[in-house]
Amino acid sequence: MTEKTATQSPPVPSDHIMGVYNRTPLAFERGEGARLFTTDGDAYLDCMAGIAVNALGHANPKLVQAVKDQAEKLWHVSNIFTIPGQEKLAKVLTDATFADVVFFTNSGTEAVECAIKTARKYHWAKGHPERIDIIGFEGSFHGRTLAAVNASGNTAYLEGFGPPMPGFIQLPYGDHEALKAAIGPTTAAIIIEPVQGEGGRAPCLTCACAACVSCATKTGSC
Ligand SMILES: Cc1ncc(COP(=O)(O)O)c(C=O)c1O
Repeated sequence: MTEKTATQSPPVPSDHIMGVYNRTPLAFERGEGARLFTTDGDAYLDCMAGIAVNALGHANPKLVQAVKDQAEKLWHVSNIFTIPGQEKLAKVLTDATFADVVFFTNSGTEAVECAIKTARKYHWAKGHPERIDIIGFEGSFHGRTLAAVNASGNTAYLEGFGPPMPGFIQLPYGDHEALKAAIGPTTAAIIIEPVQGEGGRAPCLTCACAACVSCATKTGSC
């Protein structure tokens, strides 16, 4: 099998899809494990995995069977009902991690939205409604909802969506002195990618998260 390498092709506009992404003409119709096959039958090694979300590969027989089994039973019920499968998965996740509870959501940007709201509500509930500032870093990407684009502060994503929202601060990535100076009585949270996806090469990947925790702890912000 010969695998091809995706080259940069000019974006193709579609008549019926809102033009918010630059798409190449490459179209995949199926996958097997780590391989993808185009509509023309060309094979590619999938090094993208969506954008780092499809780590289990394509068409895994056990996963396909699990999805089929579920689809034959129940498509969807609202969160206002008890969902036994959801509870079971939440227990598996909390048993395996630091987390006490799980919030199931559909996308990364909603997860970020939930994290921002949770941080602010936490301080509000502890009697500190003034703690609303989310400290982020230049070059970051946190998704496309309004709060997520404000958290990354990238002007290309903010343009045209009204004034920047209050309570979002951006600092140079890896600048611990700037971080220490920025943390104060109105800080609610620090949001950081351990490895920046859109920001390119960053100077301080390994210590970035540890530095955030250390700065926040020393200044009494967490
Ligand atoms: C670091 C990071 N956060 C958030 C998101 C947003 O995730 P989603 O596209 O699922 O909304 C992405 C997406 O690429 C991401 O890379």
